[in-house]
Formats: sequence, C-alpha cells, structure tokens
Amino acid sequence: MKRIMFVCLGNICRSPMAEIIFSDMVAKAGRSDEFIIESSATSNENVWNGTGAPVYPPAREILERHGLSSDGKRAVQLKADDLDKYDMFVCMDRYNVRSVSRILRGGDDKIRMLMDFTHRPGDVSDPWYTGDFETAYRDIYEGCEGLLEYFTKPEG
Ligand code: 4NP
Repeated sequence: MKRIMFVCLGNICRSPMAEIIFSDMVAKAGRSDEFIIESSATSNENVWNGTGAPVYPPAREILERHGLSSDGKRAVQLKADDLDKYDMFVCMDRYNVRSVSRILRGGDDKIRMLMDFTHRPGDVSDPWYTGDFETAYRDIYEGCEGLLEYFTKPEG
C-alpha cells in the first residue's frame, strides 16, 4: 500500500484537485486498492471550527468540467502525527515543502514536489493568484501522471 498525502497552502484548490485527479487516474487504471490518497493544508485558514471549507468553487467547476466531483472534500490541516501515516507528502510549491518539513518536524526524505514527477519541475501554477484554474489543472494532471508512472515498476 502506498499512502500519499498531497499538500498545499489552503487545501481548497491545488491539493484537493491533486487528490481527486490522482484518485480518478488510479481508479481508471484499476489500482485503487494499492493507494491511500488524501490532501491537506499547511495553514489553518480553511479548517474553520473543524468542519473544513469545501473545495473553492472555481476549482470545483474545473473538476466538474473534467467529469470529477469534489463532493464531500473538506479542508483539513496537516499534523505532525501524519508523518508516520503516509509514505509521501507531495507538495504543490516550494513554500509548501518548507512548511511541511516544519509541521512534520522531520521526514524530509518523504517530501516531494508534484512537478518533479514531470519533465518540467517547479511550482504548480497557483490559481489563487493567477485565477487560471485550467493551467493549474493541466499542471496537476501531468504531475499525477508522472507520479502514477513512478509507482509503476516494470515487472520481472
Ligand atoms: P490552495 O489555494 O493552497 O491551492 O488551496 C489557496 C487557498 C487559500 C489561500 C491561498 C491559496 N488563502 O490565502 O487563504
């Protein structure tokens, strides 16, 4: 079992998109039983009183346009005890990497950047600032493809 935690600042745009896109990709590959897939925030901005904010409407819309539902996803914050519960913490940008390392108080060998699984490493385009959810979707989709490929070891 591979336990994957996607992380961004707010857990209402990029990391929920990654969770939902990667879960769908894995399901379509018939490999859902190989993965535990979650997402969380480095900030407590959208945790509210423990209820958690739903996925930000423009992110919901772009996912829906690609046939994916965000129903039921609520923002949660990454916690120190998640370190032992997951095998990989996949960050959307370089600031997330620093925050995740601080929250987990270690585990740096488990922290990765999503776009490092593509041919164009760097930050996922941040739709909170660009307003461009389509570009963010494309970055995240490509990163998820690379991530799934990473976990596809050739047999024999
Ligand atoms: P996310 O986007 O990190 O992709 O979920 C953001 C959500 C909220 C804020 C920033 C980015 N914020 O400043 O509240």
